[in-house]
Parts: sequence; structure tokens; C-alpha cells
Amino acid sequence: MQFQTFDTYEALSKAAAVAIAEEVRANPRAVLGLATGSTPLGLYRELIRLHREEGLSFAQVKTFNLDEYYGLAPDHPQSYHHFMWENLFSHIDISKENINIPSGTPDDVDAYCRAYDARINEVGGIDLQILGIGTNGHIGFNEPGEELTPRCHRVQLAEATIEANARFFDNAADVPRTAITMGMESILQAKKIMLLANGEAKAPVIGKLQTSGITTQIPATLLRLHRHVHVYVDAAAASQLAR
Ligand code: PGA
Repeated sequence: MQFQTFDTYEALSKAAAVAIAEEVRANPRAVLGLATGSTPLGLYRELIRLHREEGLSFAQVKTFNLDEYYGLAPDHPQSYHHFMWENLFSHIDISKENINIPSGTPDDVDAYCRAYDARINEVGGIDLQILGIGTNGHIGFNEPGEELTPRCHRVQLAEATIEANARFFDNAADVPRTAITMGMESILQAKKIMLLANGEAKAPVIGKLQTSGITTQIPATLLRLHRHVHVYVDAAAASQLAR
């Protein structure tokens, strides 16, 4: 696991976008694993700029999102479907049929999840997975616990996650209590992983990511088992990293 610190969130976002652009230019058919939340917004803004001003094309790129709130339809303003179209997909030349986001309203969760995992395998796996991190160490919505579920599944959101995400809803009671998430195995099968974190609130968990052993109580520590993980942090999130 390699940590790279950037002075500002803008610098972090630009560096992450450059790494993705390099991946896509080297392999126009790249499969990207995408994340939602506040963290990747700067990255997505920069990718849109690279598309508009520097001709970066996503025409053949395939994407798989990590998660979706259970019970939210794609047109719900707080759904991750809505988030992705609003903040990235509407502004680039990606083909609709190449976009995969877990459904928040599947009829049969298990069958749906098996199909989602199978689609990832059919395209040869994820080339580059983008991750944020929760203050509790979750990645995707793989929340801390005694056990982690390897494949796509419906998950109970942690209180910390509900509190952290309440800011996007009218109040905490409106935050869905469960979600559909890609599992740890699918994340760890990505060829390369880039984890982004910014802001003071992430400093403790980033510090732990560097020093903790591998534990399901901090799901991101499982990334230590992967041979290509780059962690991009801004100065605020890096404040508890040992030099
Ligand atoms: P954030 O969420 O980017 O909104 O901080 C990250 C996460 O919960 O994984």
C-alpha cells in the first residue's frame, strides 16, 4: 500500500484524474470501478474537464459502481444512480449500456447480486477501482463487523454511516438503513485500486490504515492483501500518518 499526500483536495483530485486518464488512454476499453460520496467529486469534475478540453474519451469504457441505497429508485435525488449521472455520466461520452450501478430495487436481491458479480467477471474484472473510505473504515458499504461478505449483498448500514450521510437527506431518519454493495472479494479482485481521502474527519482512519493489522473491524485494512493499492490523501487527511 502506497500513500501519497497532496497539499490540497484539488491537487489530489487532479492526480487521481491523471491516473485514470493514463489507464483509459492505454486501454480505451478499460473497466473502471466507481465510487460515490463527496470524495470523488473533484476527480469527476477533472475527468469531465479532460473529456471536454483534452479529448479523453470514455466511449468504450465500462464502469461498475460499488453500491446503491436499498429502496431508492434510480430517479430518487439521493440515489447513487442520480449522483453518477449528475456528477459524471451526463457530461462524458460513455455509452449507457456500459454503465453498471447496483439496483436499489431488485426483486430478488440474491439473484440480482449474483448477476452483478457475474457481469464483472464476464468483462474480465475491474482494471482500476476507485474507493472512498468511511470514517469507520468501510469501503463500498462493507461495514465493520465480525465477518465481511465476499460478494455483492444487501448490507445493514452502520450508525456512523447513517450519521455521516444524513447531510445529503432532509434528516437522518430519511437515510435508508440498508444498501446493496459490491463485496470485499470483488473489490480485491480489481487489478489496481486507488483509495482517496480528504479532510480532517478522515485523518484517524487513514492513520489506522497505515498502522493497524488486517481486521474486519476496519474493512479497508484488507486492502493490505492487494499488491497495487495507491492511497491519495490531502494534507488534512494525512495529518495522522507517520512520515
Ligand atoms: P465521502 O464517503 O466521500 O462522502 O466521505 C466516503 C465513504 O463513505 O466511503
